[in-house]
Amino acid sequence: MTDGFSLQMLIDYAETCSVDFADMLAFSMMNQDSFSTLEFRNALGSFATGVTVVTTALDTDCPVGVTASSFNSVSLDPPLVLWSLAKTSQSLTAFRDSGHFAIHVLSSNQELLSNRFARAGENKFQDVVWEAGTLGSPVLREYSAKFECKTVHQYEGGDHIIFVGEVVTFDHRDHAPLLFHAGKYAESRPKVAAEIISGVELEQGRFTEDFFLYLLSRSHFQTSRPTWEKLAELGLDQVEYFTISAAAINGPVTLDYLQAALQHTGHDPDQAKLDAMVERHLLIEQDGAYGPSERAREDFLEILSVAKAYEDDLLEHFSASEIAEGKRILKKIIELSGEAIPPLWPRPQ
Ligand SMILES: Cc1cc2nc3c(=O)[nH]c(=O)nc-3n(C[C@H](O)[C@H](O)[C@H](O)COP(=O)(O)O)c2cc1C
Repeated sequence: MTDGFSLQMLIDYAETCSVDFADMLAFSMMNQDSFSTLEFRNALGSFATGVTVVTTALDTDCPVGVTASSFNSVSLDPPLVLWSLAKTSQSLTAFRDSGHFAIHVLSSNQELLSNRFARAGENKFQDVVWEAGTLGSPVLREYSAKFECKTVHQYEGGDHIIFVGEVVTFDHRDHAPLLFHAGKYAESRPKVAAEIISGVELEQGRFTEDFFLYLLSRSHFQTSRPTWEKLAELGLDQVEYFTISAAAINGPVTLDYLQAALQHTGHDPDQAKLDAMVERHLLIEQDGAYGPSERAREDFLEILSVAKAYEDDLLEHFSASEIAEGKRILKKIIELSGEAIPPLWPRPQ
C-alpha cells in the first residue's frame, strides 16, 4: 500500500497529462502543509480491494511471500498485472532479482493465511502446502485465482516498487473472495434489487414464500421441533420448561419475575402452576422464590444439549459473518416487536 506521493509520480503524472510542471509542484507544495498521512491512508482505505499473497523464490528451498492488496490488472493483450511492494519489505531483494512472481487471490476463508504473510520475518510457509510453479515461484494449493508471472517492469513508486508482470499461466476457482476495506477484512455480498418483495397479495388473499413473517414463524416452528419432542419425552409442558430454564439460568426466581420473563411467549404462569411444579418435585420453593430441583436441572441440561446439537448442525451451513448478521437482525426484530415486553434477559430483582 502506498504511503505518500513521490516527486517522481508527480513528474510522471504531469508528463502524461500535459500539465505544466511548475503548477504541479506548486500544488504539491501547497498540499504538503495540510497533508496528514493518516488521513491519506484512511482515504485510500475507502477503496475496497481483494487480498492476495504474492510469492517468489531465488532458489526453490527459500520460498518468499507477502500479503498484498495493491494487485491490479493492467492489460489484456499482452496479459499484464501489477502490484507494489514497500521498499522496507524484507522480501524486496527476492522480488527484484528473481524475475518472476505468483499472485494468489485469496478466498474469504483465508484470513489467517493473509495475516501470516503480512508478518515480516516469520517462517511464513510452515504448514502451508505449495509446490514450485512453471517459472519457479512457489504456488500455494489454496486460492481463489492464481496468476504466474514473468517480471517485465519494475518502477519507482515513492516508498514502494511497482512490479508489472506478464501472466504466463493462470487458474481460477471462483470461491467467494476475501476483501479488505477501511483497514478490515470483509466479505462480498451481491447487491439485491432495491425493491423489497412483500410476498403478500392482499387482494387475492394469499401470500408467497417471500412473506417475511411466514418465513420467520416457519423457521421458529421447524427449529423448535427437536426441543418440543424432548420435552414430550421428559413429560414437561412448555410453561414448565420455560420456568425451569429461567430458574436454572438465573437462580431462584419469583412469580413476578417469571411472568415478566415469559411474557414474550404468550404464557402467563400463576401460583397454582408453581405449586403444582413444587408438588411434582420440579421446583424447590424458598422464601417465595423458586429454584430448580436436581431432576429439573438435569432435564434442562438434556433439553439444552439437544437444542445446541441441532443449532451446531444448522449453523455449519453458514459463514461466521452470516451468523453474526442473522443474530443482529433477529435481535433488532425482537427489540422492534417487543417494545412493551421486558428485554431479552431480565435479571431477577
Ligand atoms: C490486507 C493487507 C494488504 C497489504 N498490502 C500490501 C501491499 O500491497 N504492499 C506492501 O508492500 N505491503 C502490503 N501489506 C503489508 C505486508 O504484507 C507486510 O508488510 C509484510 O510483513 C511484508 O513482509 P516482509 O517484510 O517479510 O517482506 C499488506 C498487509 C495486509 C494485511
